[in-house]
Amino acid sequence: MTIGEFASETAKWLEPELGSVFTGNQLDDVTVKAAMYSLNAGGKRLRPLMMRLTALMTGCPESKMADVLYYAATLEMIHTYSLIHDDLPAMDNDDLRRGKPTCHKVYGEGIATLAGDLLLNTACERLFKIAIAKPEYLYASYFICKNAGLEGMVGGQSIDLDSEGKTIGLDLLYELQEKKTGALIESAVVTPYYLIKGLDEKRAEEDETAGLLRKLAGHVGLAFQIRDDILDVESDPSILGKNTGKDLRDSKATFVTLLGREGAAEKLSAEITAAMDVLSSLEGMGYDTDGYKALIDYLEKRDS
Ligand code: IPE
Ligand code: IPE
Ligand code: MG
Ligand code: MG
Ligand code: MG
Repeated sequence: MTIGEFASETAKWLEPELGSVFTGNQLDDVTVKAAMYSLNAGGKRLRPLMMRLTALMTGCPESKMADVLYYAATLEMIHTYSLIHDDLPAMDNDDLRRGKPTCHKVYGEGIATLAGDLLLNTACERLFKIAIAKPEYLYASYFICKNAGLEGMVGGQSIDLDSEGKTIGLDLLYELQEKKTGALIESAVVTPYYLIKGLDEKRAEEDETAGLLRKLAGHVGLAFQIRDDILDVESDPSILGKNTGKDLRDSKATFVTLLGREGAAEKLSAEITAAMDVLSSLEGMGYDTDGYKALIDYLEKRDS
């Protein structure tokens, strides 16, 4: 299956679940409308796609696919909240996202702020709810929350904003990128396996496959964000669905602003090679890695 076919299959799988999060009278609420506007604005759904890839690669039984789907929708809600807030005038001040006007351009800054809050809070409710019913998922739920917070996305966004206009070192740039983008991608790549095995923290630490998945996620996350930085200087809003040239405009610390276009491309190709090496190790353990190989190939060349 090509990555394009896999993406459309993922969309078919995911969209009904996202459509069932808010129902009935809830849909009349303006904050819910704003959240749904951004959720349905046409994201690539890459994190849910990664969740399906991991589930299929590591032998998820059919009976657990619905739980993986539940977590995939939940993670996409957290990712969408991060974008709504990232675009606010107080953060990156962007007016185009997923090919449409940003949430605050349509609903105003107050409601857009609340729409982000609502998506995060609802995601947390869902993570608790399923763990109450299935305590073996408690660590997976905790892991997703932790990766969205100071140790992950929020922590990375904090360094990102704090680094505007400054020259930072390569070590801090890696930390910034690993947290702001890598952490949610780690949740996507790793969590389905935690669910399938019902892993707690200790077993997740010790499990060989889990360790390789975390390593894979690290390289996939960096490759994804380095390509995002390159596309910001190379692509076109009509293809990318968001404005370009923003990083230079805001004096952001990125692989391109720090290392130049060529330097960033070298780092990207190093991450792609490292990701492929981890896949070889997984293949050596008997896993079918064809899906992930196609994804990594796409991540290197993607133009949107
Ligand atoms: C954009 O993520 C934000 C970053 C983490 C760089 P995506 O490129 O996955 O955005 P959507 O979901 O397709 O809009
Ligand atoms: C944002 O990074 C990552 C998030 C946590 C949302 P960017 O600011 O580079 O994302 P884009 O380029 O606006 O999508
Ligand atoms: Mg940003
Ligand atoms: Mg931004
Ligand atoms: Mg960017």
